Amino acid sequence: MTKTLTVKHLAATHQAAFTQTRAWEADEFESLLTSPLVFATGDARCFALVRVIADEAELLTIATHPDYQRQGLASLVMENWQAQAATKGTREAFLEVAADNTAACALYMRFGYDIVATRAEYYRRSDGTICDAIVMKRVLSAHNLPDV
Ligand SMILES: CC(C)(COP(=O)(O)OP(=O)(O)OC[C@H]1O[C@@H](n2cnc3c(N)ncnc32)[C@H](O)[C@@H]1OP(=O)(O)O)[C@@H](O)C(=O)NCCC(=O)NCCS
Repeated sequence: MTKTLTVKHLAATHQAAFTQTRAWEADEFESLLTSPLVFATGDARCFALVRVIADEAELLTIATHPDYQRQGLASLVMENWQAQAATKGTREAFLEVAADNTAACALYMRFGYDIVATRAEYYRRSDGTICDAIVMKRVLSAHNLPDV
C-alpha cells in the first residue's frame, strides 16, 4: 500500500462501484492487507486486491469508480496484478464473478479466463434477487501475459 492508495480510497471506490452488493469497509481491506500473501494494485480510480498462495493467484476484488469506467483502467490493473503475480511464481489465476455481471465477465473473457465452475444461487442480494456465481481460471506465467 502506498501513500497515494490507502484503505480509505479502496473502500470509497468499492462503495461507489458496487451498487448491487455490499461493499467492503476500510477495516476489511486493512485486515486483508495484513496478510503478506495479499497485495493491492492500482490507484484511487481503479484497483485490484489479489491473494497469491503457492502457485495460485486469486483476484479478490477489482473495482473502477463509476466516474472513470470504460476508460481502460481495469484492463491496465488486470495487466499489472497478473504481471506481479507471475513474478511471484503464479501459474494459475482464479476469480469469482456474479453470472449477470456482464461488464466484469466481458473484461475477464478478454483476458483469457475460462469458466471452470458454477455455484448455483450463490449471491443473495439486498433487493431479493438471487444469482449464480461463476468461477473462472486462466494459466498465467511471466511468458504468458495477456494480449490486450
Ligand atoms: C468491471 C469493471 C471493473 C470494469 O472496469 P473498467 O475500468 O470500466 O474496464 P475497462 O475500461 O478496462 O474495460 C475493458 C473491457 O471490459 C469490458 N467492459 C467493461 N465495462 C463494460 C460494460 N459496462 N459492459 C460491457 N463490457 C464492459 C469491455 O470488453 C471493455 O473493453 P472496451 O471498452 O474496449 O469494450 C467495472 O465495471 C466495475 O468496477 N464494476 C463494478 C465492480 C465489479 O463488478 N467488479 C468485478 C467484481 S467480480
